[in-house]
Amino acid sequence: MFLAGKIRERINAELSPERAKHIFAVEEEAQALCKILNCTEYYEDLSYAALLHDITKEKDYKEQLKLCEKYNIVLSDEDILSPKTIHAITASAVAKNEYGMKDIICSAIQYHTTGRCDMTLFEKILFIADYIEKTREETACKYAREQFYSEIEGVSDIESRMVALDRVVLLSLGQTIKYLAEKNLYINSGTFNARNRLCLSIYPEKNNYQKKD
Ligand SMILES: [Fe+2]
Repeated sequence: MFLAGKIRERINAELSPERAKHIFAVEEEAQALCKILNCTEYYEDLSYAALLHDITKEKDYKEQLKLCEKYNIVLSDEDILSPKTIHAITASAVAKNEYGMKDIICSAIQYHTTGRCDMTLFEKILFIADYIEKTREETACKYAREQFYSEIEGVSDIESRMVALDRVVLLSLGQTIKYLAEKNLYINSGTFNARNRLCLSIYPEKNNYQKKD
């Protein structure tokens, strides 16, 4: 983990103490979730994903565009309509181009803000670790954290814990959609798609949805 140490040094040097604190808390939360969900094979990769997920978040819009140019990123109309999500795209490019991170890590970083349809387990862990890590003070984040940890309390089978993970990801997506809607802000289609897919897989009866084999 020599590289992780280097990235930690960069975080402390380039980002605000608040952001660094958040990033290290996301790493801790992601690793706790690995143990809870019995997927410790992701431990190291999730550590990298957590450390790099917000590496460009404090850059302003102009700087984000410069990074896009540097890494040949063509932003979609949607990306431009939801500028707060652009840091996820540029952070993913930094992970790939500056650190040679593998696709599983870059993809989780890219979708950690919006979510997307059919998120992988790895993507869900980074996504929710970012939302429920213990230093977050927002009511919605605290509520999601409490819901998840109370649902898994005393539950040892992994399948039920995976459902609890899906439920908390669904909850957080719903809360984000509500928050953006109340502020009359554009909502990225990835967020709707992630939410709808989880809704269908967790509550097939409610949605009259027959899962195909
Ligand atoms: Fe974050």
